[in-house]
Amino acid sequence: MVNDRVVHHFSSLDSTNRYALDLALRGATPGTLILADYQTRGRGRHDRTFCSPPGGLYFSLILQPTLNIGERPLISLAAGIGCCLALEATAPIDVFLKWPNDLFADNRKLGGILVECPAVPASAQNCTVIVGVGINVNSVPEDFPSEIRVTLTTLKTLTGETYDISRLGQAMADEIEQMVNLLIIDRPALLARWQERDYLLGKSVRVRLEERMEDAIGSGLARDGSGSYCLKKLDGTLKKILAGDILLTPENGTLHAFQEGET
Ligand code: BTN
Repeated sequence: MVNDRVVHHFSSLDSTNRYALDLALRGATPGTLILADYQTRGRGRHDRTFCSPPGGLYFSLILQPTLNIGERPLISLAAGIGCCLALEATAPIDVFLKWPNDLFADNRKLGGILVECPAVPASAQNCTVIVGVGINVNSVPEDFPSEIRVTLTTLKTLTGETYDISRLGQAMADEIEQMVNLLIIDRPALLARWQERDYLLGKSVRVRLEERMEDAIGSGLARDGSGSYCLKKLDGTLKKILAGDILLTPENGTLHAFQEGET
């Protein structure tokens, strides 16, 4: 227990999200944090695996925010801001958010977020959610499979320093909770903070729309406050994206290949 937070720290787990989902079903206290030094079956978005070698920060935070079902996709946006704040308070770096919830620094992926809900009927309010976060901290690109190495970075690569994983995880958990509280009390303020870190804004991207790939320009969060993302198509019209991946086009650098795999 640190600062009233229950912390379970494992040397390894298959997936901290899987463990946290089980714990939540057994009635774990909201705010409980599960950390692992590495994961053998880390889960990424869209059922991908998340490569989780030693040296990274892998944690899941159990939350029970007072939000309606329609507001739940916004939790990952709030979590993304919280992660950026903790990282920037720890290391001399600027962190950006690639919609919906990848963390980028120096034009490479530094980490990702996966929000999951226990498979129980949720009430309209007070849902339990698991916020899973994976950050490349004391690892180096050589610790990852060759096909994704050029697409990612690590805190150690960016700064030459090594960091206290447990302290960083708890700082991130604190910031995530604060940002989820901001979402509950002032959604426009939360979304404005996300927009300041929009990595895709003005960039050339590619996205699957109605079964075909289209080129577009990143154009920011939708004004309806839903947390969906707007793309300007080549014909000038705006298209709102509710789910899925937005791919960076090759002219944005070395990032295209990473879209097919995961860090
Ligand atoms: C993504 O980039 O697709 C999201 C990756 C989220 C990975 C984290 S690591 C800790 C937590 N446990 C998991 O199994 N996944 C999340």
